[in-house]
This record gives sequence, structure tokens and C-alpha cells, in this order.
Amino acid sequence: MTPIPHKINIAIDGHSGCGKSTTAKAVAQKLHYIYIDTGAMYRAITLFFIRNHIDLKDKKAVQEALSNISIGFKRESQSGQPNTYLNEENVEYDIRTPVVASKVSDVAAIEEVRKFLVDQQREIGKNKGVVMDGRDIGTVVFPDAECKFFITANADVRAERRLKELKENGIQDTLESVRENLLKRDEIDSNRTISPLKKAEDAHLIDTSYITIDEQVQEVLDVVRSYLNQHNSH
Ligand code: DC
Repeated sequence: MTPIPHKINIAIDGHSGCGKSTTAKAVAQKLHYIYIDTGAMYRAITLFFIRNHIDLKDKKAVQEALSNISIGFKRESQSGQPNTYLNEENVEYDIRTPVVASKVSDVAAIEEVRKFLVDQQREIGKNKGVVMDGRDIGTVVFPDAECKFFITANADVRAERRLKELKENGIQDTLESVRENLLKRDEIDSNRTISPLKKAEDAHLIDTSYITIDEQVQEVLDVVRSYLNQHNSH
């Protein structure tokens, strides 16, 4: 009898703009797993805070704002791509704009915000079968994830890729400002007190500077398949 592969959780962390989301999405599709973009969740909260002029230092205002936020994902019927929803509004375009990108790392450093989202992320992954990408998935959200990856790439390559992606989505920016934003976010994300971006000891490191998306996806799938082959229930 063919063994039925049991479901696992796959954590994909790393620096901004090195193809985490594209890789995670493709891996989830191949395995018929759920894909969760946790960066989109932090971006949706940032958008809400900007729109409602929330003072990030005012803990009470932050807590109150969080109690009015609900975040979800729905597939776009034509492309099948997951779109991010903030209180039932499709905000997929708005959360990718430079104004959100420039504030999201400060919002993601707030303890209350992280607790709010980490609880939801753990709930989504409790039955396994999830590919989640972010900054703290393998270290904090799912320290027991069966397969963990840490993805990086050099800053010039990342800036060029991100600029191309923004252009494809009709968002104007310059290479220099995209590069600056990526590096600034890396710096804030890596040095914050709560859940800083760092490689989990047991994560596989992938440098994507000189490999294609297909190769990245293949590298992740090879590790996952090898894990599943070793741990399959017969
Ligand atoms: O993956 P992204 O670039 O869309 O993420 C946006 C920001 O959200 C990123 O600069 C840091 C923050 N983030 C985080 O702190 N923890 C996560 N798990 C995901 C994102």
C-alpha cells in the first residue's frame, strides 16, 4: 500500500525581498498545503494604524485598535492568488505601498502586535499542513516545525527583485529607495528586543542571490520530501 504522507509545518524565514513568499507559495501549491504570508498580516495592521492615526507609543490605543482588527486571506477567483483582507476589505494592493513598507518594521516591533498575530498564526497551524513565511516562524511561532528554512540574498539582488515586483503591481518607486527600505527593515527586524529575525539553529540556509525561483523551490521541496520519506506513516 502507498504510504499516506502525514502533514507537517514548514517555516520559511529570512531577510526582506529574497523570494520567501514566492517560494513558500509555490511549495504550498505543490504539496497542497495552506500558505500563510505573515508579513502581510503585519502590513495589514500597519495600514489600519496609519489610516486611524494610531500613536505607536500609546499602548492603550494600540490595544484598542487591535481589538477592532480582523485579518483574513481569500483566494482571488481568477488567479487563485491569496489576497489579504482587513476587516473584510481586500487590502492586497494597499499593504504593498512604500508608505506601509516604511512603517511596518516599527509596528512589528510592538509586543502587543506580535502577541496578537502569533496567537492567530499558531491557531492556523495547529492542524499542520501549513507553509508559513515571515521572520520568527521557525524560532517563535513554530519552534517545533518539522522543516525550517532561512532564506537570504545580497542586497542589490533583493532590491532589483523587489522593484520589479512593485512595478508589476503598478507601484512606483526607485531602486535606491527600495534598497534603503530593505536594509532599514533588516536592521530593525534583526535588532528588536522581541522575536528578532535570526536563523533557527536547525533551519536550512539558502542563499538565493544566484539561483532562480525554480531552483529555490526545488531545494525546499527536496528537504521536505526527504523528511517525509524518513517519517512517513505506513
Ligand atoms: O515579509 P514582508 O516583507 O512582507 O514583511 C513585512 C514586515 O513585517 C517585515 O519588515 C518585518 C515584519 N514581520 C515580522 O516582524 N515578523 C513576521 N513573522 C513577518 C513579518
